[in-house]
This record gives sequence, C-alpha cells and structure tokens, in this order.
Amino acid sequence: MAGSVTPDDAIAAIRGTGGAQPGYRALHAKGTLYRGTFTATPEAQRLCRAPHLDGSPVPTLIRFSNGSGNPNQRDGVPGVRGMAVKFTLPDGSTTDVSAQTARLFVSSTPDGFVELLRAMRPGLAAPIRMAAFLATHPRVLGALPVLRAANRIPASYATVEYHGLHAFRWVDADGGARFVRYHLSPAAGEQFLSASAGLARGREFLTEELNGRLEAAPARFEFRVQIGGPKDSTVDPSAPWARGEFTTVGALDITGLDTEREHGDDIVVFDPMRVTDGIEPSDDPVLRFRSQAYSASVKLRTGVDRGPAAPPA
Ligand code: HEM
Repeated sequence: MAGSVTPDDAIAAIRGTGGAQPGYRALHAKGTLYRGTFTATPEAQRLCRAPHLDGSPVPTLIRFSNGSGNPNQRDGVPGVRGMAVKFTLPDGSTTDVSAQTARLFVSSTPDGFVELLRAMRPGLAAPIRMAAFLATHPRVLGALPVLRAANRIPASYATVEYHGLHAFRWVDADGGARFVRYHLSPAAGEQFLSASAGLARGREFLTEELNGRLEAAPARFEFRVQIGGPKDSTVDPSAPWARGEFTTVGALDITGLDTEREHGDDIVVFDPMRVTDGIEPSDDPVLRFRSQAYSASVKLRTGVDRGPAAPPA
C-alpha cells in the first residue's frame, strides 16, 4: 500500500542487502570527507535569493561515497556513487545538496524503493523475487538503461556527473519562483573504467586517486540547475524532465581532505531537506522520507536521536 513503509522498514530492508551495519551509514557506508570552496555565478543570484548564491566564496564540506551499505566495498566494482555537499552560510548555519550518479530514481515513492531492496536480498530466491518485482513494477524495466549507466565504475570521483533528482523551488529576491533539479558536473569530463580495469585497481583507489589529483590542483565541479517546464513533475524523482534548460549557477572547487570532522562525538549528516531561505523542498514523497530514514541511520551509526537537529519533514 502506498505511503505505508516506515524508516525502520527501510533500515530493515537495507540490512537484508548487507547494509545498515552498526557504526556506519546504512547506505553509502564507505566515503571520504573533503573541503572545498563554492562560488556562485550572477545567474544564481537572479534565480534564487539563498545567501550562498550571492557570489561570495563559500566554504563547503563534501563527501564522496560508494552507494553500497557495505563499509568494506571495493571501489572498483559497479555501483552508484554519491556526492554530498554542505555549504556554510554567513550566519554559521548550513544547507545541503545530496546527489548520486543515477539520472533518475528507481521509484516515485519510498515504498517502491523498499520493495526493490527487499527483492534484492541475496539468496537462492533472489532471481525469482527480482523477476516478480519487475513484473509488478513495469516502469523499472524502462529505467534499466539509466540504472546500468549509474553503476559504471568511474575512473575518478572527479570524472562522473552526480544528480540531485528531487525538485526544489527556488525563490528570487522579488518573490518570483521556479522548480529546479540539481546536477554536479565534473570540469574534467566523464571517464569510466571497464569491469576488468576496475577490478585491477586497489580497494581504495577512488579516494587515493582523488587525493593524488588534489595535490596538483583543485578538482572543479560545475553546479548546474535544470529549470522545470509546466509539464515536468515536481513530485516524482523517477520521471525525466522534458525541458532541457540548464543554467550554471556556480563552481565548486574541491581543495583537499577534511581532517576535522567525524572525530570523537562529531556527527555529519547530509540531508537534502536542510534548505535555507530562498530554497523550498517540493512535495516529492521520496525527498520527505529521506530525512526520516537518515535520522534512523544516524541513530544506528551513532546512537544519537537527531530530534530537533533534523530539518522538519
Ligand atoms: C527512499 C529513498 C532513500 C532511502 C531510504 C535512502 C537511504 C539512505 C540512508 C539510510 C543513508 C545514510 C544516511 C546517514 O547515515 O547519514 C543514505 C545516504 C545517502 N543517500 Fe540516500 N536514500 C534514499 C534516496 C536517495 C536519493 C534519491 C539520493 C540522491 C539524490 C540519495 C543519495 C544519498 C547520498 C549521496 C548519501 C550519502 C550521504 C553522505 O555522504 O553522508 N539517496 N541514503
């Protein structure tokens, strides 16, 4: 039944696939934190009044990750990768962008995603479960090429494009508004490895490669927004947008490893619901559910209830 799964159901389904291990993020368990600087373009300010888009350089914290819930996952195997960005605003508060390599989400609802996780549970019956899932979710069949592309092995965390998937409403200084979807595009262009080349790389090659790359120069990503047209869905992250209007709203330069965060009791959560003045979450049910699922994951990995520290769903 639509709308019936709980964050605990999601964690249980993730655990069934080998994720949700105590002490680690339930998904995207293996990742590395970096520091960077974001500078918005003048177009950003025209589209949105949010303080980090006013053109002054903004300190950022970035986490690159493997999507799997297995903290010991080899880097050189197929799988979705994540890029999450936390911008520090002038008043010391933060706002987050959370993106991954899939151009579209597999489902329009949390229920669909949890059903997929349940179907993916390893075991002898897995192929039958997956066939039954595809038979009852025929739209996923159409999305298979998108999902295959999302699972390619990048040559570097800095040579793959990441997508925010959900729609956010950007409000400008005059109160004008539009819905946008986020894309983080590598200035180095996209580059991937074959399955055999991926397996030949070391377990941690994505972090090692990026660290080496940053010794020479910062790694740049363009922050681009896709502006939705009247027929584009603002609530379904599995539906492509027909309107191809893209605007570059800033450049994010990754400068080096972060050495400060996630030591001792420090907790870092990248939550797409953590917005700021000028940015409003859409009514996408997957977006709203994520915040609650991330709180359940934080409880699992740190023992801490986010409570009021979590953005309101
Ligand atoms: C119902 C749908 C989803 C569920 C249940 C889910 C679940 C999770 C969980 C439990 C975590 C670990 C959170 C933490 O401990 O901080 C996580 C991390 C993450 N998820 Fe999702 N997720 C969903 C959809 C998405 C979507 C649509 C995107 C992409 C736009 C996404 C991108 C990420 C990224 C990038 C991370 C890693 C964040 C970090 O590095 O800290 N997720 N997800």
